[in-house]
Amino acid sequence: MPRLKYASVVRGVVILALFCLWLQIILSAGSGNGGTGYRDGDTNSIKEQLVTLPPFTPVTEELMNANDTSEHVLALVPPELHKYLTVHPKNFSANSTERTAPKNTSDILKAIRRYNDAQTIYNEDIFGPVQEDTVIIAIQVHTRLTYLRHLIVSLAQARDIDRTLLVFSHDYYDEEINTLVRSIDFTKVIQIFYPYSIQTHPNEFPGMDPNDCPRDAKFEQAMKLKCINALHPDLHGHYREAKYAQTKHHWWWKANRIFNQLQCTANHTGLVLFLEEDHYVAEDFLHILSLLKSTADKSCPQCEIISLGTYLKTYQYHANSDKRKKQLSLNYIQHVKTASEERRKRQQETQWNFQVYPNLYASTQKLEITPWHSSMHNMGFGFNRTVWRNIMELQDQFCAYDDYNWDYSLLHLSQNRPGREKFKVILCKGPRVFHIGECGFHHKKANCNASSVISRVQKLLQNAKPYLYPTRVTATFTTGGAKHNKKLTKGNGGWGDIRDQELCANMTRIGRQQRKYMYNT
Ligand SMILES: *[C@@H]1O[C@H](CO)[C@@H](O)[C@H](O)[C@H]1NC(C)=O
Ligand SMILES: *[C@@H]1O[C@H](CO)[C@@H](O)[C@H](O)[C@H]1NC(C)=O
Ligand SMILES: *[C@@H]1O[C@H](CO)[C@@H](O)[C@H](O)[C@H]1NC(C)=O
Ligand SMILES: *[C@@H]1O[C@H](CO)[C@@H](O)[C@H](O)[C@H]1NC(C)=O
Ligand SMILES: *[C@@H]1O[C@H](CO)[C@@H](O)[C@H](O)[C@H]1NC(C)=O
Ligand SMILES: *[C@@H]1O[C@H](CO)[C@@H](O)[C@H](O)[C@H]1NC(C)=O
Ligand SMILES: *[C@@H]1O[C@H](CO)[C@@H](O)[C@H](O)[C@H]1NC(C)=O
Ligand SMILES: *[C@@H]1O[C@H](CO)[C@@H](O)[C@H](O)[C@H]1NC(C)=O
Repeated sequence: MPRLKYASVVRGVVILALFCLWLQIILSAGSGNGGTGYRDGDTNSIKEQLVTLPPFTPVTEELMNANDTSEHVLALVPPELHKYLTVHPKNFSANSTERTAPKNTSDILKAIRRYNDAQTIYNEDIFGPVQEDTVIIAIQVHTRLTYLRHLIVSLAQARDIDRTLLVFSHDYYDEEINTLVRSIDFTKVIQIFYPYSIQTHPNEFPGMDPNDCPRDAKFEQAMKLKCINALHPDLHGHYREAKYAQTKHHWWWKANRIFNQLQCTANHTGLVLFLEEDHYVAEDFLHILSLLKSTADKSCPQCEIISLGTYLKTYQYHANSDKRKKQLSLNYIQHVKTASEERRKRQQETQWNFQVYPNLYASTQKLEITPWHSSMHNMGFGFNRTVWRNIMELQDQFCAYDDYNWDYSLLHLSQNRPGREKFKVILCKGPRVFHIGECGFHHKKANCNASSVISRVQKLLQNAKPYLYPTRVTATFTTGGAKHNKKLTKGNGGWGDIRDQELCANMTRIGRQQRKYMYNT
């Protein structure tokens, strides 16, 4: 009976299609914009938010130090830590006892040299010297003081924090930031200052030189202008922009400074963990770090990178990866705009997803071993000196790669290790580091400001409390999605200028001994 057969086949296909549709709906509901805490209309409000984002504005050289920590947030911060959140009004009346705050560039440069040379470790007398296996926490700081305050509060509450060394790496010199950092009393602290910042080089490379080519100048135009970098546009044909180059320079300088130059790390073989000013840690992050490390030592000797957090929505990245390709035809500024907008979207939606995955926290912590991927594993990750040496050997892959993102540059390096596989990362599925900083300055929506994001993280961690400090783990090996494993071909640009590549390479040439000669003028 062919007809009957046909009908049943059709029925089968229809049922299958319906099932697939259902599955897709379930999946997208699960990972889309995250169930819990959201009513039906919220999908629209997220879309609306993304569409109405103001044009990308790079972080201005203005201190972001708001006094808007809400009562909700404060209520969950132990009273003795409120001091880190207190914004002191500027004392304008005190003209006689004017603080000796450096005012001009040369004063700031002098102060930076002095501090970098002194390498003072605060609280060393209380907490003892840096040991070989001390966990070093490197925090890259720009100007977002409000977020930094909350990061410090979260660090203060972490168990065993008193055995670590916090390295604050600054690319913006400010007395208020310094005062905050030096007020930390719960562990050892050292400040390092990126010496090639835009703040200290406002009219010359690595800042913007008046004779630099305009970003959008065409090659012929630039040659006619005889501007400094006419011969070195990036792969999209655009000229460098100091503010986009600075973050990669700072990241690279900081890693070099910590592993190769500081006196206190001369014999250090332990982990260096990389954080940023707008991260927030769970109180058991050091416990998890050591759990990840001991698991790696036992079961995954090839795991060179350890990560405490990941963006939860992998599929989100897939979508972006396709868009990245399309962007190659956009001009540089459009390109940068779109790229940072997408980063923001990705990270923003991650935040809204915190509450969707309570099952990520359990008394048996789930771990994952997978190829390291820049955009997935760039938050709260660490490695040791052995791994750093390998990165240094291949510094060309980082410094000469035409991409202004340090994480994509590191991915490029990872994919081009002669005779070696890509970096493998071991990570915990229940994140111990959260990104609190992508919400608030760009749009003042009631449900999207620093306080409300921090409050969500606080609550998530409170709910997860019974499952913190797990003692058992299960690890799964995954290969990562096809797109994650795809070899990067072209970079994102913004790093075509030969001076950027040279400065980057120069940073690795400075060793421990040279220190005295460097700053003795
Ligand atoms: C910040 O808030 C605190 C408490 O609400 C207040 O005492 C202080 O004066 C405020 N500081 C500024 C600069 O507004
Ligand atoms: C402001 O400066 C004056 C004069 O030095 C001092 O007496 C006063 O306590 C200061 N106020 C604050 C809030 O620091
Ligand atoms: C600074 O303080 C002196 C006295 O110490 C006073 O005469 C002068 O008016 C003050 N100037 C300002 C700008 O407040
Ligand atoms: C910077 O300010 C100091 C005083 O604070 C002054 O002695 C020095 O000449 C100034 N330098 C420049 C380049 O303006
Ligand atoms: C590093 O080890 C060497 C040799 O053991 C020792 O002389 C030196 O003081 C150590 N440096 C630090 C900073 O611990
Ligand atoms: C550093 O990490 C690598 C990769 O995980 C490991 O093989 C090596 O033993 C570690 N080095 C030290 C000194 O712990
Ligand atoms: C931030 O959001 C919370 C609600 O989530 C609201 O109570 C608070 O007033 C907001 N603060 C600012 C400065 O917008
Ligand atoms: C890098 O170092 C070389 C040699 O010291 C120097 O000539 C060059 O100007 C440096 N380049 C940059 C961009 O700092």
